[in-house]
Amino acid sequence: MIKVMQSIEDIRKNLLAQVASSDNPSELLKAPELKQLYDKIKTLPTGGRSAYGRSVNELRKTLELAIVAREAELEDSTVEPIDITAPWDINTGHLNLLPTEYGTEHPLSREIENVVDIFTRMGFEAVESRQIDDDEHMFGTLNFPEDHPARDSYDTFHTEEDFISPAHTSTMQNRILKAGKTKLEAGGQIAAISYGRVFRNEDVDATHEHTFYQCEGVFVSSDATLGQMLGTLRSFFETYYEQKLKIKTQPSYFPFVEPGLEFVIEKPTVLGGNPLSSGGEWLEMLGCGMIHPNVLKAAGIDTEKYRGFAWGGGIDRLVMLKYGIEDLRHFESGKLQFLRKFV
Ligand code: DAH
Repeated sequence: MIKVMQSIEDIRKNLLAQVASSDNPSELLKAPELKQLYDKIKTLPTGGRSAYGRSVNELRKTLELAIVAREAELEDSTVEPIDITAPWDINTGHLNLLPTEYGTEHPLSREIENVVDIFTRMGFEAVESRQIDDDEHMFGTLNFPEDHPARDSYDTFHTEEDFISPAHTSTMQNRILKAGKTKLEAGGQIAAISYGRVFRNEDVDATHEHTFYQCEGVFVSSDATLGQMLGTLRSFFETYYEQKLKIKTQPSYFPFVEPGLEFVIEKPTVLGGNPLSSGGEWLEMLGCGMIHPNVLKAAGIDTEKYRGFAWGGGIDRLVMLKYGIEDLRHFESGKLQFLRKFV
């Protein structure tokens, strides 16, 4: 009997584990192991039957409860595919879709708008970055020599015609500089940001995605300084995280800036969400530096008269920190459970 009880216990554990990961949990009521337990009842001597039978029935009840719980969980997270070519009303009433009048903006779109707003309030023009570009903009005009190893950090996707899905928003720098040249020469400044989707050939995990978002800033004037850049960035981060922050820089290398730096902030207290907050931990937020003269020259800007600074960094990371989001993959997953947290 002890042996039989043990095997009921093993079967119970095994079936419950299967229920927890099954997409069709009620199927497990037909599991052969369960059937065998019932079949066994008949073979037992009358004395042992009732205790054994009770244990099997209890197992079945536990299983049924677990199935109901699992079904509720699945109903919460699954959305059946809809026919996107159908007239709108055919798809209404579909499981778990928010009524169309409650459709919401994707959290990243909302945060990108927020980032763009902060910079435009500071006087920067905003242009959206490209999702397809060429080697000249992605590398050549940014002072990456042919075959330079620095190109390896920007491994991305290429079309057969040799177009590139840009791996950084710096791909817009040359266009921004050329477009602002006349204004600069008339005594003005170039102050622009470029934001949008970028792509990398990555092994995807919680902190790496093949598709993510960046924001790039470019400022050129007759007397631009690193000090101005640090002030601009500090002000951006303090506005974005709505708190005073400690900042520092550390040396880094990017072919398009000299000197090149990483801009680092002390980890901000997360606004709402998980208590990821702490003190004394430093986070690298973006790359930056004084624009390399070759980059200015590639746009026809006189490096004797003008200088500038530039920066660029990921938007997803900003947002993850702000809301305590632990996995970058949620953003592109289309999961309603995640998206509804931002309604
Ligand atoms: N494009 C760089 C990257 O994606 C980030 C960057 C670094 C942009 C320094 C800049 C800069 O404008 O000055 O890794």
